Amino acid sequence: MCGIVAYIGDKPALPILLNGLKRLEYRGYDSAGVSVLGAASGRIETVKSVGKIRALESKISGMGDGGAKPDLDGVIGISHTRWATHGEPTVANAHPHLSADGRIAVVHNGIIENYATVKKILESEGVKFVSDTDTEVIAHWISRFYEGNLGEAVQEALKSLEGAFGLAVVCEAEPDVLIGARRGSPLILGVGEGESFLASDVSAVVEHTQKIVYLEDDDVVEITRGGFSIRNVLRQPVRRETLEIEADLEIAKKGNFPHFMLKEIFEQPEALRNCTRGRLLLDEGNAKLAGLDNSMRELRSIDRVIITACGTSYYAAMVGEYLIEEWAGIPVEVEYASEFRYRNPIIGANTLIFTVSQSGETADTLAALKEAKRKGATVLSICNVVGSTIARAADGGVYLHAGAEIGVASTKAFNAQVVVLALVALLLGRQRRLSFEQGIEITRALGALPGLVEETLKLSDEILSIAGDYYTCANFLYLGRHYHYPVAMEGALKLKEISYIHAEGYPAAEMKHGPIALIDANMPVVIVAPKDALFDKVVSNAMEIKARGGRLIMVATGDSAPLDKFASHIIRIPATLPALMPVLASVPLQLLAYHIAVLRGNDVDMPRNLAKSVTVE
Ligand code: G6P
Repeated sequence: MCGIVAYIGDKPALPILLNGLKRLEYRGYDSAGVSVLGAASGRIETVKSVGKIRALESKISGMGDGGAKPDLDGVIGISHTRWATHGEPTVANAHPHLSADGRIAVVHNGIIENYATVKKILESEGVKFVSDTDTEVIAHWISRFYEGNLGEAVQEALKSLEGAFGLAVVCEAEPDVLIGARRGSPLILGVGEGESFLASDVSAVVEHTQKIVYLEDDDVVEITRGGFSIRNVLRQPVRRETLEIEADLEIAKKGNFPHFMLKEIFEQPEALRNCTRGRLLLDEGNAKLAGLDNSMRELRSIDRVIITACGTSYYAAMVGEYLIEEWAGIPVEVEYASEFRYRNPIIGANTLIFTVSQSGETADTLAALKEAKRKGATVLSICNVVGSTIARAADGGVYLHAGAEIGVASTKAFNAQVVVLALVALLLGRQRRLSFEQGIEITRALGALPGLVEETLKLSDEILSIAGDYYTCANFLYLGRHYHYPVAMEGALKLKEISYIHAEGYPAAEMKHGPIALIDANMPVVIVAPKDALFDKVVSNAMEIKARGGRLIMVATGDSAPLDKFASHIIRIPATLPALMPVLASVPLQLLAYHIAVLRGNDVDMPRNLAKSVTVE
């Protein structure tokens, strides 16, 4: 979703800003823009364009010398990639937005909920709006309070703005000051030598500095070339720790892969090794999760678990539900964070809440976490991004250690989430009903998973040739039972996200209650049917599909007769414990979606309309 990069220092700001925006491209956006305080002109110079950052760069380089060429040579500036909320993706709606006199420029991530009220006041005072955005309101509103001190004006303006924001603000009259503010939307401060950065996440600044301050809600930071100070909205000074993070310069490199998504699919064995490293107690048949150490006594007494998440993380949570119920015997509910936050959920004294989020920034998941804490619950987070807002807001938690995930469609994070949930289920199970022997069997199986994923990845070419037969289809149905029901849901989501083919996931037996009406030769059915206790039931579903002329793509293990004779294609994957099969079964579905999307000529890493990190509700 929207990305912010801002710079103040002694180097040319423009290349730093454009480069930072490229690092944030993965978040998803539809237009981009930059404002620099021109060194010679002393004016805020702004260039914006629709589409990719490449388009913004060509626009800038295509601007002729003389009057038409803006003075973008300054050493302070702000920039933005916009994911449209209020108003279409147009140049006028792209950020930065300027005050009416052009002297204050603002970039914003989030939504100002009372923008209509504020806009009405401003219009009654004669302000003319040039965009449909809520952000333009902020620029005019700050300008309204400006009396020679930008920091004070931002503080004053924020008092009456409701909603979520990450902001970066510059002012023509104060070339040595950059202001940042956050409430709800992520914003970090990068602290360099004589230079500082504001950004939506660390990937935009990590090549310049590894010293990071994670701003908290209601922080307003005033940055000069000599340092920074943070105050809260009550104007009280607040201290925030400056953390030294690891520089991962490989973050945004595809290596030999044509797309980040394919790279990340193939990184899964490594991601799972990193995710389980040091966490499997093979001699005790147990898991050790340092982030839960402080909660061990509490974990013993819980009698109900709620897992809340969005998107792919929600499907991982569904697998988690089955795992925890089966291994630990604790009732689990999984709920969309967007529902949980407004539903007034019942949370008992012994209810434990997990939030699952790759980015750790998803607005609905964060709000669900806050709602649960408000009701007195302990909330543990399962996040990939270290230091993310959700990870910091939780009472404890477990990181995935899956490495940066850039492709908008989540792949390696999904499987790492399933594995972390399996570790949690094992730990809870060993506190309760799992025997030593069962624990040993599970730890061994978890240890062997990365190797089995490696084997599964060898099917990529075979899956590419299957994709060749189906990539022009308009609809797909995905079916699975028990552990494979969430896998079917996730498989359908992957296809939708990147191929734009309509796809539905269903519990296999539910097919007869509706979707069966859709089945014909033009609607391929992907059926996830490893040999397990429910295999014979899936055979019946396959027969029903075949009887209606449907085409079946089957994900199977070992001996899958008698299903073989019904299937048009069989993708044979290795086997492990039924409870861990989702990890292996999801891999061919990721590859199928990927190859189909590539054959359709789609931008796999940045699919239309989607964002990697959804920081608005
Ligand atoms: C967006 C992303 C999905 C992701 C979902 C939840 O929709 O495109 O890939 O599953 O948000 O994100 P989270 O970071 O909370 O897992």
